Amino acid sequence: MEESKTSSNATSSFTAVIPAAGIGSRMQSDVPKQYLKILDSTIIEHTIERLIQHPRIDQIVVALHPDDAVFNTLPIAKNDWLTCVVGGNNRCDSVLNGLQICQSEWVLVHDAARPCVRLADIEKLLALANTGTGGILARKATDTMKRALPQRETVDKTEDRNSLWHALTPQFFPTVQLRDALNACAQGGLTVTDEASAIEQTGGTVTLVEGAIDNIKVTLPLDLALAEFYLTQQSKEQ
Ligand code: C5P
Repeated sequence: MEESKTSSNATSSFTAVIPAAGIGSRMQSDVPKQYLKILDSTIIEHTIERLIQHPRIDQIVVALHPDDAVFNTLPIAKNDWLTCVVGGNNRCDSVLNGLQICQSEWVLVHDAARPCVRLADIEKLLALANTGTGGILARKATDTMKRALPQRETVDKTEDRNSLWHALTPQFFPTVQLRDALNACAQGGLTVTDEASAIEQTGGTVTLVEGAIDNIKVTLPLDLALAEFYLTQQSKEQ
């Protein structure tokens, strides 16, 4: 697939798509994880508030589970910048649904469950629009990394951690390039777990932008206390 040559000079504002249609089974909670509370608000409210605070984000599209009965009860749901769409079976389907109403030439995709993302990191990522090549926030691997043998808890080999990164969000790409890449993966029966994987699969380039380590995805019960700690620390920095 040809790289997009779209530049941000033509556009200074961006849409953020938030896939929030997951059930968060690893959280062992009756409530989908984005509706668990940290401090005074749900996780998704913290996440949306962060994105709204960024001066160059002026549309937010939230993909919700078809049976979601919570989101519209939250005060933040009344925000004029927000639009909701129905999510799909997998994260990539939810993102594709969100892209249908994306108004900007470039789009940010950000997990509902990453409430601690820093505005400075979003700013670094948005600067990629000037280069014409999209990318992702990412964190360098710090542990020694092992590859297991197929279906076994036995080490096959040790990977070179110097070339390994954790993929975070937001992920930021030209909207048409991302939509085409996700559609191509869907048509090929490939379920990708992030947007960058779709770009890679279709021959595009993904730039790694090093982000802060506190941009965690709340996934396991212990992550709730960690996210609360990080949010509290961040509030003291302002
Ligand atoms: O399950 P995981 O933590 O990887 O999900 C990442 C994000 O994708 C979450 O915000 C989740 O709500 C969302 N998701 C979605 N549609 C699905 C599955 C997950 O929007 N079908």
